Amino acid sequence: MPVSQLTLNDETRTPWIAFGTGTALYGKDAHQAVTVAIRNGFTHLDGAQQYNNEDSLGAGIAASGKPRSELYITTKLGELKPGDTPKSALEESLGKLRVDYVDLYLVHHALSHVGRLKDIWIGMEEARNAGLTKSIGVSNFTSDHLSEILEVATIPPAINQLEVHPYVWKALQPTLSLHQKYSIVTSSYGGLSPLVRGRGGPLDPVVENIRTRLARARGSAVSEGQVLHKYFQQKGILVVTTSTKVERILEYLDTENVPELTPDEIEDIEAAGAKLHKRFFVNCSFTSRYIHI
Ligand SMILES: NC(=O)c1ccc[n+]([C@@H]2O[C@H](COP(=O)([O-])OP(=O)(O)OC[C@H]3O[C@@H](n4cnc5c(N)ncnc54)[C@H](OP(=O)(O)O)[C@@H]3O)[C@@H](O)[C@H]2O)c1
Repeated sequence: MPVSQLTLNDETRTPWIAFGTGTALYGKDAHQAVTVAIRNGFTHLDGAQQYNNEDSLGAGIAASGKPRSELYITTKLGELKPGDTPKSALEESLGKLRVDYVDLYLVHHALSHVGRLKDIWIGMEEARNAGLTKSIGVSNFTSDHLSEILEVATIPPAINQLEVHPYVWKALQPTLSLHQKYSIVTSSYGGLSPLVRGRGGPLDPVVENIRTRLARARGSAVSEGQVLHKYFQQKGILVVTTSTKVERILEYLDTENVPELTPDEIEDIEAAGAKLHKRFFVNCSFTSRYIHI
């Protein structure tokens, strides 16, 4: 079954779910995991210069045998070395990834470029205008960071990739309003955190009730993770996830076949999420000291 797509504000399209090579694969050889993910149906691969494994992501893509045109590849600008620009850094990434272009190039962390965010965004536009990437966007940008680059942008960011799940949904509202105003697609990493990193919160019983209802409606198993992924899909959010296990990769992709949540169930998830504010990737979003993400 083809992975469904989201349309970006630059008229390109992206598969709504991506396989990430950070977190569990951060700094590790991602070759095997990437090949397995592609062979089992993932077409969107999410990498980053900072993950220190773009060469193995490239090797995994090559070994999959999948034509380039059927894949969607994302990488992210890390800290700039002296003399480098976003464009020259992307040229180095393309060599490691063994491709001529990426589909999406994100500024990984606003806080890596404090005081020169506008110049960085102009450099991102230069990379796109040179044809090295189809789309450009950002990651871990607050509404203030977005406002800063929007002052100079001739191309608005297509995507902002953030820690998104129900326990941060309320706090994200100022950023999400700006996304709506500029048609910036919200992308979620750490989306399963309430279930895999922070169990015991107010969301647990709500997700379990919805899971039970959906499994009954479907007539076959539905996992708690699929409930959250379905919630994201229905909200038009691009999910970036990962797994070391084939069965989980298949489960993630099977979310397409899970029946839809009702508007009341979506409201229940957001109401339960609003009872607890909890970030699991604080180092990522609020300081320039980010490790293992
Ligand atoms: N832009 C950024 O700053 C940033 C930051 C963080 C992450 N990311 C990107 O997002 C990707 C995904 O991040 P994430 O790991 O936070 O995604 P996630 O979707 O929140 O979590 C995926 C992890 O959850 C585990 N998992 C899933 N279902 C489970 C279950 N039922 N029981 C126990 N464990 C379960 C998986 O482990 P198994 O191997 O056991 O399946 C996997 O390691 C990263 O690889 C990276 O590409 C970006």
